[in-house]
Amino acid sequence: MPLMPAPLLLSEARRGGYAVGYFESWDSYSFEAALEAAEAESAPIIVGFGATMLDDAWLDHRGIDHLGAMGRTLIDGCRVPVAFLLNETHTLEQALAGVGAGFNFVMIDSQRWPKDDAMRASRKLVEAAHPAGVAVEAEFGSLPDFVDGRIVDDGAAMTDPAEAAEFVAETGVDALAVSVGNVHLLTAFTSEIDLDRLTAIRAAVDVPLVLHGGTGFPDDAVRAAIAAGVAKFNVGTRLKRNYLDAVVRRIGEWTGRESVHDLVGSHKPADFLEAGKAAFTDTVRGFLRLYGSAGRADDVLKVVAP
Ligand code: 13P
Repeated sequence: MPLMPAPLLLSEARRGGYAVGYFESWDSYSFEAALEAAEAESAPIIVGFGATMLDDAWLDHRGIDHLGAMGRTLIDGCRVPVAFLLNETHTLEQALAGVGAGFNFVMIDSQRWPKDDAMRASRKLVEAAHPAGVAVEAEFGSLPDFVDGRIVDDGAAMTDPAEAAEFVAETGVDALAVSVGNVHLLTAFTSEIDLDRLTAIRAAVDVPLVLHGGTGFPDDAVRAAIAAGVAKFNVGTRLKRNYLDAVVRRIGEWTGRESVHDLVGSHKPADFLEAGKAAFTDTVRGFLRLYGSAGRADDVLKVVAP
């Protein structure tokens, strides 16, 4: 029951004037942390794994099945509405594998592909995913990255409203991520958002809009972005940064005398990974409040079981 279609979560967000957060996990600790944050804030949430940062050989050799099975097990019994995303796969085949692995939302990272290739791949994905009850996101327009202290925008391009409309009509995707000044991996400062472009995209495109690059997105532009049609934000880098800082701090407290069995992977308070998990949960809770989705879980649950 708590596993719900992403389009339902996104349309309820649009109706309610808030956005749903997607918080990118990489293991069971970070995945549980996202779910626990959503339960603590009574928020609908999108959880999942991002393929971009993962090794292709690992993903293609049982990695996607492993992530899908683990995620579905942990979502089971969750009390808030959850959609389960395999984000930004390198290939169409990986996204198709996600459809069969338990994800109910998939996306190819085709933002830098030639437009026709990207459209063809997303259309094929939609054709396979929709009959299986799985929703599809695509990104049209491409984001710069923040790497080694500077913005790298090779090949980055802001989303053109008319082309975005064509992309959605040709592919049938359920949600469209757009490039309007948002930047991936940005930790040093915040991005500058072109709200007029966002509004023009919204006028041309009828599916919910998504903004990647939640880490560097300016807090004070969140409300305006939602008003301009954004129903989902993606957050990744900030979560890993805060997780790692907490783990490093905890490791620094190690005297060398404590039981390694308590410290490593025990899920007990002494487990150094639990320190990272707590930081992840706190960070997600802050974003859920920022996006206005905190306290909205029951509204979504009522739509399916009035
Ligand atoms: P950040 O890592 O910049 O928060 O972006 C995450 C993202 O967009 C994942 O799709």
